[in-house]
Amino acid sequence: MKRTHHCGELRPGHIGQRVTLCGWVQKHRDLGGLIFIDLRDREGICQCVFDENSPLRGQAGQVRSEWCLSVTGTVRERSAKNKNIPTGEIELDITELSVLSRAQTTPFEIEDEIKTSELLRLEYRYLDLRRPALQKNLIVRHKAMQSVRRFLDAQGFLEVETPILTASTPEGSRDYLVPSRLHAGSFYALPQSPQQYKQLLMVSGIDRYFQLARCLRDEDLRADRQPEFTQIDLEMSFVEVDDILSICERMIAALFLDVSGKEIPMPIPRMPWREAMERFGSDKPDLRFGLELKNLTGLTRNCGFGVFDGAKSVGAINVSGGGKMSRREIDSLTAFVKGLGVKGLAWHKHDSSGFSKFLSEDTLNKICEETNFSEGDLLLCIADESDRLVKTSLGALRLECASRLDLIDYDRLEFVWITEFPLFEYSEEEGRFVAQHHPFCSPMQEDIALLEPDENGVLDISLARARAYDMVCNGYELSSGSIRIHQSDVQEKMFSLLGLSEEEMEARFGHLLKAFSYGVPPHGGIGFGFDRLVMLLCKTSNIRDVVAFPKTQSAVCPMTGCPSPANAAQLEELGLSLSKKDG
Ligand code: AMO
Ligand code: AMP
Repeated sequence: MKRTHHCGELRPGHIGQRVTLCGWVQKHRDLGGLIFIDLRDREGICQCVFDENSPLRGQAGQVRSEWCLSVTGTVRERSAKNKNIPTGEIELDITELSVLSRAQTTPFEIEDEIKTSELLRLEYRYLDLRRPALQKNLIVRHKAMQSVRRFLDAQGFLEVETPILTASTPEGSRDYLVPSRLHAGSFYALPQSPQQYKQLLMVSGIDRYFQLARCLRDEDLRADRQPEFTQIDLEMSFVEVDDILSICERMIAALFLDVSGKEIPMPIPRMPWREAMERFGSDKPDLRFGLELKNLTGLTRNCGFGVFDGAKSVGAINVSGGGKMSRREIDSLTAFVKGLGVKGLAWHKHDSSGFSKFLSEDTLNKICEETNFSEGDLLLCIADESDRLVKTSLGALRLECASRLDLIDYDRLEFVWITEFPLFEYSEEEGRFVAQHHPFCSPMQEDIALLEPDENGVLDISLARARAYDMVCNGYELSSGSIRIHQSDVQEKMFSLLGLSEEEMEARFGHLLKAFSYGVPPHGGIGFGFDRLVMLLCKTSNIRDVVAFPKTQSAVCPMTGCPSPANAAQLEELGLSLSKKDG
């Protein structure tokens, strides 16, 4: 019999109809008289019944979990209704049963509340994906993709695919390399993003480009990172920052409305990078709760407490209601911040058990006033030579305290644009300035002069800001973008400030500079972490929950076993030989 309905589709309105369903056996119960089989497909579950005198009872009794069946029967009202499932008012009185295929006992049960290790689930991902929660996530992901495509199409964007075998494009990560057989000893890089191609498409006059682009980066993985992920990548010609932010806001609003029925208040507020660092110690602040940072550097100068006196920067957060934290809990917060590289954590409570004994009453009063400290609160202070470290460690402490004290409302979505990023960032590792985002970001018009030495011959590029923006939500960096440099002289200046020699410039970006010499429009764009958007829509903090076939934290696929060694013939063909590892 041909399938007529989906399992999750039947309602009291279907009562009396003869239907055929196909699906997998979620559960089978033999109650002596009656046999029940819960049949599951993508749309839900339907209870199938074999009555006492059904000729199919023998066959039905042999059916086991996860067998794949086709059943035909008549929809009837259930006597014992189940309000918890959408099909709970009906059941199917089966008259035909055919076993489409049998199943071995699965390594874990196919249900949402399972305790099985993620590794085992990933090894049997095709079974894991039978679970309703993951099917729902894939459906949300699909809807999100359709919503984005619809929106951008209506706004005049062209979807253009760009190569997967490319030359390296710097996004601050390591490239995955692919050896070339035809050109032994040479390598393609997999794209960290389509950045250069989309800029070249602007030179071509495509005007508005987008792509749901796969990006590949060999980087350390976290709960919100995969080695391959998807970006909503877009680029526009003849635009300013406001045009891009406005399109993106409307795209996100449409997306959340389409997929989860949620209205995002517009416009999304903007916050300059410097303010985000000062107030939240992070360039991706979680605005669902307070606990803002306070700068105590001026107040604590010469205060008599050695830890504060000797430091270039002192900052604090006042954890309201944190006074109930025990000494042990504070010790564990101290260990937490020490792990971030600061020397300690100074704290104050109303009962004077903390650092107050080292300070004059006047200084303490001023600190309490500055931080709005009151009885019942816990004041946490960090001092260090590096102002950046004070800010970032307080920023991390802020998140830690919010999570320990349960201050986060998980139903809230707090979007913010972070703007005016620094153009450069000093890399201690490399001992030089590197591009904060990528080397194609345009400086802010008012900061262009900072790229040249001042009248005293002093050059301080650390203050130069970029026409760059990130959309942030609930502490996640959802996207990054910028207005690009379209003037060859500014681009060359950028490369030279980044320490690229003429030869390196030519070798790595010669094609782009050449293209820019043929009439490049002013342009800018952005890349959204699509997986992260879907994480927000699905309310999960694990990126693997929204990717059909993800890699583990150590970038392997337990199902297919990749990466795996190449055989001798393949290596030979590619002109590669493996050096022996030490030991
Ligand atoms: P960027 O490198 O900031 O910018 O990446 C854009 C967004 O992609 C997401 N993202 C990731 N998601 C999952 N796993 C990863 N490993 C991962 N890495 C990044 C983040 C991030 O904000 N070409 C530029 C964009 C532009 O300037 O137009 C780019 O790739 O959400
Ligand atoms: P010490 O003088 O090292 O015994 O530190 C006195 C108190 O100040 C202890 O509670 C330390 O944890 C704290 N402390 C030490 N170094 C710092 C620092 N850099 N910032 C904040 N508190 C600190």
